Amino acid sequence: MNRLQGKYVLLTGASQGLGRQLAIAYAREGAAGLALVARRGEALDEVREQIQQAVPKTSVVVVTADLRRPEELERVMNEVRDTLLRNTLRDRTQQVAPKTNVLTITADLTQPEDIERVVATTLNEFKGRLDVLVNNASTIGPAPIPYLLDYPLEDFHNVINTNLVAPFLLIKKILPAMIEQGGSIINVTSDAGITGYPGWGAYGISKFGIEGMSQTWAAELEGSGVRVNWVDPGDMNTAMHRAAEPDEDPAQWANPAEVTEVFLYLAANDSRHIHGQRFQAQEYNWGRNAIEGLAA
Ligand SMILES: NC(=O)c1ccc[n+]([C@@H]2O[C@H](COP(=O)([O-])OP(=O)(O)OC[C@H]3O[C@@H](n4cnc5c(N)ncnc54)[C@H](OP(=O)(O)O)[C@@H]3O)[C@@H](O)[C@H]2O)c1
Repeated sequence: MNRLQGKYVLLTGASQGLGRQLAIAYAREGAAGLALVARRGEALDEVREQIQQAVPKTSVVVVTADLRRPEELERVMNEVRDTLLRNTLRDRTQQVAPKTNVLTITADLTQPEDIERVVATTLNEFKGRLDVLVNNASTIGPAPIPYLLDYPLEDFHNVINTNLVAPFLLIKKILPAMIEQGGSIINVTSDAGITGYPGWGAYGISKFGIEGMSQTWAAELEGSGVRVNWVDPGDMNTAMHRAAEPDEDPAQWANPAEVTEVFLYLAANDSRHIHGQRFQAQEYNWGRNAIEGLAA
């Protein structure tokens, strides 16, 4: 709990799928501020509501008393009433200044001017501070995915702009703020970024780009206090994967809520010495569960 206390996070592609689960998981761990980016503002508002439901303010009153003694009863009643009153006042304050400040930004990351606005709005709201950037937003492109021979140039540009150019620009723009106090950049990749599968088109090529770009940023930022790591979440049951492989049974793929652990680890201080590494989220979870199983 509270592994992200005091951290300010910019998370792209937060309106559904993995991004939505990361937003909830980061709020659960007490992030101070979350800037959530996607094109669909209504979907982002739903995520904000889900965060409010998932991270409720629970009021628990503990009073020790021996209720066999009648004189204790009155003291207990008074104590419960006073505590509930105090908690109600505290909850009202939290509504004005909630634990996680959730900022939703509607933006199309294929547009450089939208990226400028995302960074400016985030830094303005978080008073110049940013600790974590998660480049999660991505598009699969046209589905079913055509072979490269038939791949339309316009779609090729759109996929590369969303999946590769936008993360490049976001990193470039947030760096001056992040370098002040150090921070963590997490890029989301795929196994399609290390194997050239037939029929994965510009998507696979964009993820090869993310792999190479992550390595290059990591090498150039060595020793700067800003660390760069990248994560392959593995097969997940999301709209993107269902569109990419409509004939497969989505039940065989992981629920995105189950792959968030490595993203929490990389955002938190526990991983402050981890830099320039590639992670596989589902293997990481497996390893963790195995270690916990051994320890139990
Ligand atoms: N699903 C898998 O099995 C799998 C496997 C390996 C890697 N991944 C990677 O995991 C990440 C999350 O994937 P997912 O399956 O959760 O995908 P998803 O459900 O399709 O979600 C993609 C997110 O990106 C946003 N987005 C797309 N284009 C955008 C644009 N131009 N501007 C702003 N936001 C945009 C979407 O929001 P709007 O539509 O509201 O803009 C949405 O929130 C991606 O990087 C993906 O490549 C997924």
